[in-house]
Amino acid sequence: MSTLPSEILLYDLSADTLDMRSDVLAGLARSPKRLPSKYLYDARGSQLFEHICELPEYYLTRAELALMETHVAQIAATLGPQVLLVEYGSGSGLKTELLLERLADAVAYVPVEISRSALTASVERLNGRFAHIEMLPVCADFTQPVRLPEPARPQRRSVIYFPGSTLGNFAPDAAVRLLTHMRREMGPHGAALIGVDLVKPPALIESAYNDAAGVTAEFTLNLLHRLNRELHGDFDPEKFEHRARYVGETERIETHIVSRADQRVTVAGQRFHFAAGEAMLVEISCKYSRTSFARLAARAGMRVSHVWTDADGLFSVQCLRPARQSTQTQ
Ligand code: AVI
Repeated sequence: MSTLPSEILLYDLSADTLDMRSDVLAGLARSPKRLPSKYLYDARGSQLFEHICELPEYYLTRAELALMETHVAQIAATLGPQVLLVEYGSGSGLKTELLLERLADAVAYVPVEISRSALTASVERLNGRFAHIEMLPVCADFTQPVRLPEPARPQRRSVIYFPGSTLGNFAPDAAVRLLTHMRREMGPHGAALIGVDLVKPPALIESAYNDAAGVTAEFTLNLLHRLNRELHGDFDPEKFEHRARYVGETERIETHIVSRADQRVTVAGQRFHFAAGEAMLVEISCKYSRTSFARLAARAGMRVSHVWTDADGLFSVQCLRPARQSTQTQ
């Protein structure tokens, strides 16, 4: 378990933001059943997700890193000097490091992350490398309004960094709410830097979520182990399977946990019936074209100012600005 150096204060705003019991009971009572994807990330789930990022089929992480390596100087120049960098999620390793390395005279780094251990570990690592950048970690659910700490030096611009296609895990209305929340957070002269996975031939996308080694299946089914452990469930994970399919009409992967048998399961003291073949939605991963992402951003009062892609055009990082930003301050 890592601890932060004494000069770094951790802002803990996490109390009661996750109510897994009521979310799960409500999700299992729905028809069709569905559970929020955020519960996929317990310690084992986070470990499995890291493994997924290294799989040959999961092109997203490699493409985004290659893109950042190629374009980071231009991205940093676009954002300008004395940036306050707010990251939703804990420092995504190499990508965050690349950005912090190139940002001119960055004022502070504010990772907002619900997992205290992930937050502490990433800030410890980054603080060692960027001693001149003020570290202001915030333990909170970034989908909820949070009051961010003020840096010691004033920033010229707040930039919200949201890499890794995590926005794709939000359905369009929820993504618009999150982008709107970012727009308010960044202020009239701010910017958001979003990792966006692009639409491409469905077979390529589907294979990224159905790897040959079965790691993604293990990641999905780990949710049942978590429910057994934390909510006194009695799921038999052998009686369920992972299914990830691309749905062309909505341009997204839908990941389901499918019941292999007619069965009853108890969770948090309540009984639920699963028919044989019944599918419970546990994650969506939306893909965007340049046009559909610009449309989404516009619904949140933002415009796309720049788009960078990797050489194969698989993944993009898009810079968003408030739609009515004054031209003098760009
Ligand atoms: C975190 N998120 C962007 C991943 C994705 O691609 O939707 C989660 C994931 N699920 C299965 N594989 C990866």
